[in-house]
Amino acid sequence: MRILNVVGARPNFVKIAPLMAEYRKYKEIEPILVHTGQHYDDAMSNSFFEELEIPQPDVNLEVGAGTHAVQTAEIMKRFEPLISEYNPEIVAVVGDVNSTLACALVAAKLRVRVAHVEAGLRSFDRGMPEEINRILTDALSDFLFVTEPSGLDNLKREGVSPDKIFFVGNVMIDALMRNFSKIQKSSIVSTLGLTDKGYALITLHRPSNVDRPETLRRIFGVLRAIGQDMPVIFPIHPRTRANIRKFGLFESGDARDASFSRNGHGVQLLEPVRYIDFLTLMRSAKFVLTDSGGIQEEATVLRVPCLTMRQNTERPVTVEVGANVLVGTDPEDVLDAVRQVSNQPLPPYEMPLMWDGHAAERIVRVLIRQAKWIASETIAA
Ligand code: UD1
Repeated sequence: MRILNVVGARPNFVKIAPLMAEYRKYKEIEPILVHTGQHYDDAMSNSFFEELEIPQPDVNLEVGAGTHAVQTAEIMKRFEPLISEYNPEIVAVVGDVNSTLACALVAAKLRVRVAHVEAGLRSFDRGMPEEINRILTDALSDFLFVTEPSGLDNLKREGVSPDKIFFVGNVMIDALMRNFSKIQKSSIVSTLGLTDKGYALITLHRPSNVDRPETLRRIFGVLRAIGQDMPVIFPIHPRTRANIRKFGLFESGDARDASFSRNGHGVQLLEPVRYIDFLTLMRSAKFVLTDSGGIQEEATVLRVPCLTMRQNTERPVTVEVGANVLVGTDPEDVLDAVRQVSNQPLPPYEMPLMWDGHAAERIVRVLIRQAKWIASETIAA
């Protein structure tokens, strides 16, 4: 069974790593890895391949940046010939980025079965490009691998046939668990002069938070206020860095700039951090303040309080278990939540169902079973 696996942007690399490792256990599977090139910097791409021991891509489509239409169309144009070249039984896509939708659409039109890993998540906010990618990719998919109960409800409500839906757990958590011993060995916390539970970790890159000057300026006001009490560590995504520079929020907008308050804390901007170092920074943080999707899940498993700077989440299980709070972007609300998590430890909670490090095993078992069924169907025809 030949499976064409698609990755494009940073969170995809984390999700594909456990699957590529699992495929190796089955001699009947021939995995092909396609990198669309949506993310291309060393820090956003290569370092993940190295650390997560992902094999080098068989093909790199090198699409780079563009508007949504240009990026999606360019991926589709460059991906389409690969279907006739490799003639795969299945195209596997992960997550919700433009590469996910583009390749699912190409495969579905060429009648190749699509497997979507991380199906069913919904924020119910079409202002998020990822929400549109999620809805459309699920509508095109033949195998929908679901991470949390809300995904089952959403797909059922949208009328997806139950025999296409598989509740398997979370491959991002597989990756975390596989790398846990390395996380324990990283020295990034002391290298940055930080102490365990003595700092806040920030990540922000959603267009709704970083693309407008007044919003980003207001958010930096919040970060500086937190920085009065503890160091604020902020690895900067390229989109956010470009906007900081464009809006003149720091003198040069350069990641070397740091705004230290008088007590020596303040906001420290870093280049994007490698996978292992990032998880180490998260594990030792007092709390993480983020607008990312995957970080809400990783913080839940690391038992680090997560404050999500959004009005909604497509990962409600993280809120339901008590690990994650949606704080929006109103400065008073964010600072209130910061005070709460700074003063109270997280209450004990149970991990979401099947976030146990074995999701990739379950996914590949389903694909093998389906491949046998596909083969028998072809012979009968
Ligand atoms: C994309 C995903 C988002 C995901 C995020 C993770 C979509 C719609 N969005 O957003 O869901 O959470 O990745 O990081 O697919 N850039 C670089 N170097 C890189 C990559 C990007 O400089 O390696 C720049 C691009 O030139 C572009 C900007 O960052 O100007 C945004 O990149 P893009 O891939 O369009 O979207 P992200 O904001 O990264």
